[in-house]
Amino acid sequence: MEFFGIDIGGSGIKGAPVDVQKGELTAERYRIPTPEPSVPEAVAEVVAQVVQNFKWQGPIGCTFPAVVKNGVAYSAANVDASWIGTNGEELIASKTGGQVIMLNDADAAGIAEMEFGAGQGRAGVVIVLTFGTGIGSAIFVDGRLVPNTEFGHMEVRRKDAEHRAAARFRTEEALTWKKWAKRVNEFLGRMEVLFSPDLFIIGGGVSRKHEEFFKFLKTRAEIVPAKMLNDAGIIGAAMAAAQRFKL
Ligand code: BGC
Repeated sequence: MEFFGIDIGGSGIKGAPVDVQKGELTAERYRIPTPEPSVPEAVAEVVAQVVQNFKWQGPIGCTFPAVVKNGVAYSAANVDASWIGTNGEELIASKTGGQVIMLNDADAAGIAEMEFGAGQGRAGVVIVLTFGTGIGSAIFVDGRLVPNTEFGHMEVRRKDAEHRAAARFRTEEALTWKKWAKRVNEFLGRMEVLFSPDLFIIGGGVSRKHEEFFKFLKTRAEIVPAKMLNDAGIIGAAMAAAQRFKL
């Protein structure tokens, strides 16, 4: 069965129809750059353009890079602050005409990884972390998600963890892989003290380059790269829509 997935990111808004039983896109995804400023109206307009590109009319799952509860955004670390308090589900539904579920981007990516990717069949405590513009997190206990964890905002060396270890700082500060991995390692160490996970799944754009930095990471838990790469958010969003709007 097909549902539509949208992934709203800091730089692009991407979407595609998804076969939620297979965990695969059924058409090539379509991307439009995120408007600047990334205010709710403008973002919702772009989401509607992506959806219209496929002439899609059914339910839509949509990720958002912030805390989202019952469709309302409660934070806005890497998007326009006017999102705080906005009901994204209602806003996007008003532009697209379809039913909408909105969820945190890392939660969506985690849902896809657990079902079809690196977390498939894994019980115990699994932490999925996405390294990109920020650090996203999702934690699963025996396959069940605890939504809206914001581990990237934990303080490490008196800074938000994501302000030191997000992937973008490796490029912005021209850090070597080793130097950047040291920051990631510190963050993972804190996660281990607090949660004693059985498995870390490392996602985000850098997961494609895991061979460059996994060798510098030392964790007690097993650590593996994400498998779904770029499509995890879209697929997880569509899966969330399938769950909420089962026909
Ligand atoms: C946000 C999270 C989001 C992560 C990745 C963080 O800045 O607070 O909600 O999951 O970035 O986009």
